[in-house]
Amino acid sequence: MLDHLEDGIVVLEGGVVSWLNPAATLMFPGVADAAGRPLLEMVREHRINALAAKALQRGQEEAAEVGLSISNRTLYVRAVPLNAGGLLLLFRDLTRFRHLETVRQQFVANLAHEMRTPLAGLDLAAQTLADELPAEGDARLFLNRLLQESRRLQSTVANLSQLAALDDEGVPVDRAPFDARALVEDNALKFTNEGEVVMRGRSEGNRVEIVVSDTGPGIPARDLPRVFERFYKADRSRGAKPGSGLGLSLARHLIELQGGTIIAESTPNIGTRMRIRLPRGSLTSA
Ligand SMILES: Nc1ncnc2c1ncn2[C@@H]1O[C@H](COP(=O)(O)OP(=O)(O)O)[C@@H](O)[C@H]1O
Ligand SMILES: [Mg+2]
Repeated sequence: MLDHLEDGIVVLEGGVVSWLNPAATLMFPGVADAAGRPLLEMVREHRINALAAKALQRGQEEAAEVGLSISNRTLYVRAVPLNAGGLLLLFRDLTRFRHLETVRQQFVANLAHEMRTPLAGLDLAAQTLADELPAEGDARLFLNRLLQESRRLQSTVANLSQLAALDDEGVPVDRAPFDARALVEDNALKFTNEGEVVMRGRSEGNRVEIVVSDTGPGIPARDLPRVFERFYKADRSRGAKPGSGLGLSLARHLIELQGGTIIAESTPNIGTRMRIRLPRGSLTSA
């Protein structure tokens, strides 16, 4: 069974490789027969060696994603201590998965970039037409529709660009004061037709918590884990509100970028509660 597994398996005993499966041999083709040799000679990657040493020293499982400098592969490595000082190493090859993720991110970034100019052109043309047309009539109606839809597309494209920039990771955190009203004018007010929207803020130690509760329709349990996904909109059939479904995924990215968390709690027909926790930090700009 172990011979046919795609994951690489290596057993270390007394600091040297005592057994490995064929998948591990393929992942680390440097030495013809690794059995009996030190781990580093086989994997040629100091971070894997360090991970193994840490697991042995602490006597507990350690795991990390490691990019191999020699072969350009990305591996997920787990080091599991065994009885009598032995160590089990498990290697999962994530190269293809990471590659697909990069392709997807680049595709979205390129698409957003390519759409920006023609959309701005459409908007400008429609605005110019708007100045020429009489205030009433069918043509004005269609034109307003044109303007409205092109703004909607522009805002979706702007959100996608922002997500693409966040995927790229090099985004610096800028902590500045902001108007908290804008926060509730997002989803809470949009989805709540009657009742109330309450926003609470408090600090506990070095963290602050912001909770936005509403008495809106709530989010069905099956949708709740997915509302932070890109383009995900719960319950499209029933009284759909305008929106691209990108807001919460952006919110989560921005919050996690600052070391915070956002969770959604919801009961259908009762309401929704968004809980945001952020580490306290000093402002980076006024
Ligand atoms: N406060 C809320 N009450 C009810 N449903 C909500 C609430 N917030 C989010 N949702 C659901 O989660 C989906 C995703 O939200 P979001 O990412 O902000 O996208 P959008 O607002 O563009 O639809 C919404 O379409 C809606 O179905
Ligand atoms: Mg929204």
